[in-house]
Amino acid sequence: MELIVAVYEDWGIGRDGTQPVALSADRKFFREMTRGATVIAGRKTVADFPGQKPLPGRMNIVLTKQDMEIPGFTVCHSPQEAAECAAGAERVFVIGGGSIYRQMLPMCDKAYITKVHCAVPSDTFFPNLDEDPRWKLTQILQSGEEDGIFYEMCLYQRIS
Ligand SMILES: NC(=O)c1ccc[n+]([C@@H]2O[C@H](COP(=O)([O-])OP(=O)(O)OC[C@H]3O[C@@H](n4cnc5c(N)ncnc54)[C@H](OP(=O)(O)O)[C@@H]3O)[C@@H](O)[C@H]2O)c1
Repeated sequence: MELIVAVYEDWGIGRDGTQPVALSADRKFFREMTRGATVIAGRKTVADFPGQKPLPGRMNIVLTKQDMEIPGFTVCHSPQEAAECAAGAERVFVIGGGSIYRQMLPMCDKAYITKVHCAVPSDTFFPNLDEDPRWKLTQILQSGEEDGIFYEMCLYQRIS
């Protein structure tokens, strides 16, 4: 299983249920990486999807503890159930938010992390993989600047 996330300078990932700064280059990277894949998201992240609709061209799994149906989504009630639901897929990406990343990081062996080099106050954070000896930055896939903000798409891999 893989994971994809955009982090600000302090590894913050969002505030008030949304991403205060979202670069179009990163949205494009996300679309290209996850096209055709199965994506797993928490119910709060799904609430921030455009029109709260499933992402097109992907199988969308949503995690909730509630007994609910969300049209276009496969509803799962635990990370284990989500992993089982996604088991036949060629590529599976965990796409957030904070609580789902934290719970599912141990199931992932690759993390695509866009570092957005700006200071944005966040209320939700991703674990700092630069401080985690189990993970290693192995490749910078892309980098650039948008609206004066430098960004890098980094691949981290689990090494133990
Ligand atoms: N920068 C990025 O790349 C990125 C990507 C995605 C999201 N985000 C940001 O992350 C923030 C949202 O993160 P969040 O942590 O608040 O919410 P979240 O992880 O998106 O969703 C939390 C919800 O998921 C469900 N859930 C959590 N653990 C579960 C479990 N073990 N079993 C079943 N369901 C479970 C619960 O839904 P119920 O309450 O319905 O039970 C919970 O309220 C937003 O600010 C968003 O913009 C950033």
